[in-house]
Amino acid sequence: MTTTITDPSLKIIDGKAVAKALRVELATEVADLKESAGITPGLAVVLVGEDPASKVYVRNKARASEEVGIRSVQHILPEETKEAELLSLISELNSDADIHGILVQLPLPAHINQATIIEAISAEKDADGFHPYNMGRLLTGSPTLEPCTPLGVMHLIETTGLDIAGKDAIVIGRSNIVGKPVAVMLLGQNATVTLCHSRTAGLAEKIATADIVVAAIGRAEMIKGEWIKEGATVIDVGMNRNADGKLCGDVEYATAAKRAARITPVPGGVGPMTIAMLLKNTVTAARAIHKI
Ligand code: GUN
Repeated sequence: MTTTITDPSLKIIDGKAVAKALRVELATEVADLKESAGITPGLAVVLVGEDPASKVYVRNKARASEEVGIRSVQHILPEETKEAELLSLISELNSDADIHGILVQLPLPAHINQATIIEAISAEKDADGFHPYNMGRLLTGSPTLEPCTPLGVMHLIETTGLDIAGKDAIVIGRSNIVGKPVAVMLLGQNATVTLCHSRTAGLAEKIATADIVVAAIGRAEMIKGEWIKEGATVIDVGMNRNADGKLCGDVEYATAAKRAARITPVPGGVGPMTIAMLLKNTVTAARAIHKI
C-alpha cells in the first residue's frame, strides 16, 4: 500500500520524508516478523575495491538496515580480488540461511565480469532486482524482486496522487539499473512511454510533450527547464556535480520548477528512496524464502 504523504499543495516532492515514512513502516513489519515467526531479515552487502562514493553507499546501507532491524553483514574485499574469489563468497551467501538479501555494489573493478556476478546471485536473494530472472519477470508483467531506484521513482510518483494511466511519460537514460526498468514499470501502470538516451534526436521536443519526466542520464543539468511541459511531474534521478562543484541533478532545477506541477529536488528526492527500497526488497525476499 502506498500512503499519500506528500502534501498535494506542495510542488517539491520530499523524498527524504517519503523514505523515512517507508522505513518506519518497515521497522514495524520487521519487528512483527521477528515476534510472530522468529525471522530476522539479513542483508549482505559486498564491496570490491576502494571507490570512495561506493564506500559511503555501503556504510549508509548498513546503517539504514540496522535502523529498521535488518541484520546487516558487510564484506569489503580488496581491489585485486579475483572473480573466482567473489563467486565463492556469493556461493557461501547463497546457501547461508541467515541471509535473505545479497547486494554486490557496482561498478566492479574492470577485471571482474559484472554479468557473471549478477547471475551468480541466487534470484530469490537478489535484493537489487538485477538478476535476469527478476528482470524477465518485470518485463513479462509478473514482477518478483524489482530494482530499487526504479521502485523509489514509482513510489514518489504514487505519493503525489497522480493517476499514471494514459499519461505520456518520458524516460531519459537506458541503463539496466534505472532507465530500462523504470520504463517497464511506467508501462505496467499504463503510461505511454518514450525511452530516450544519449543518441535520441529531438530530445527537447519529445520532453515538451511529456506529463511525466524521469531523468536518469547522469549529465549535470542537461535537461533544460524550458523543455518541461507546464504542469508536468519531474523525477530527477541524476546525482552530479555542476561546474561550481555543487551537487545537482540531470534537470536544470530552478527553471524546471517554475513549469512543473511537481518536482524532486537533488539531493533529497530520489536518493533516499533507493536505500529504503533495498530494505523493503530484503524484507520481501525474507518473506518469500520463508513463504510467509
Ligand atoms: N551502484 C549504483 N547504484 C547501484 C545500485 O542500485 N545497486 C548496486 N548494487 N550498485 C549500484
